Amino acid sequence: MSKKVLLSGVKPTGKVSIANYFGAMKQFVDLANEYESYIFIADYHALNFIQNKKEMQENITDILLDYLAIGLDPKNVTLFKQSDILEHTELAWIFDTITTVPYLERAHAYKDAMAKGKEVNVGTFNYPMLMAADILLYSPDVVPVGQDQKQHVEYARDTAQKFNRIFGETFKLPKEIIMKDRENIPGLDGRKMSKSYNNTIPLFAEYEEIKKCVMSIVTDSGEGIPKNVYAIHKLVRDEKELEKIYAEKTGKYKELKELLIEDLEKFIAPMREKRKEFAKDIPKALAILKAGGEKAKKVAEVKMEEVREKIGVKIY
Ligand code: TRP
Repeated sequence: MSKKVLLSGVKPTGKVSIANYFGAMKQFVDLANEYESYIFIADYHALNFIQNKKEMQENITDILLDYLAIGLDPKNVTLFKQSDILEHTELAWIFDTITTVPYLERAHAYKDAMAKGKEVNVGTFNYPMLMAADILLYSPDVVPVGQDQKQHVEYARDTAQKFNRIFGETFKLPKEIIMKDRENIPGLDGRKMSKSYNNTIPLFAEYEEIKKCVMSIVTDSGEGIPKNVYAIHKLVRDEKELEKIYAEKTGKYKELKELLIEDLEKFIAPMREKRKEFAKDIPKALAILKAGGEKAKKVAEVKMEEVREKIGVKIY
């Protein structure tokens, strides 16, 4: 029996945080053996935010090293980058033509950008259509993502249905997988941990950086149990143990933070070291990405031929 298919990606817009890891990326690793997995780098999505050659190149390499360091093994995961497979942008265009403006206006990311009074670029507006193409080209059964991407997977599903209705059965409807209790990992300031708030703990932080981050976590002096510290702590240590420790050390914020620093270090250090190993041979890492792209392209090409045939442009 052939395995079910999994696909997901991350856009390379800066350092990966522990919230990215626990909210989404960890699942890529946990599920890799169970599924035929495609994990990619959404560099064309990142282009909406990163419009600088050097920064783009660095970000792509960084996320590739991150993928390898968290334990994605090219032996059983196809790692690739979006821009290597032109079918993504081609299919996104086709989806644009069957999608209405009001429908895209309902996307959270677009609405948030508008609410902030930003002049939104067309790429940001179309973001869900490129993401639908990313997904649907590979006919995945599941798409593990963070809570913030749930709506985007719904857009992909709707778009598949719409295409199927107009042109006949073509796309499989994908389903998101979202980790429970991982929706609201707080950042250092107590708001949701997010690059845009500048309140993250980087997944590959050095010891000194972990220390600095943890010491700056906001605590409310009335709480007894510092809830932000606890919420981060439970990611890296068993909750039963933690409940006991936090009960014993009520009000001792400094001690609790010191313990969190040690627990984070224990968790991060092995991955951080692995990442350094991979970083010693960048050409080797890039070769993995390139080979993954060649493999993924074969799948995307077949689906795209079917699409061109269905919409009527394939006349020879
Ligand atoms: N939008 C996702 C993010 O922020 C990245 C992404 C692009 C993605 N295309 C995807 C995730 C397809 C899952 C499936 O980070």
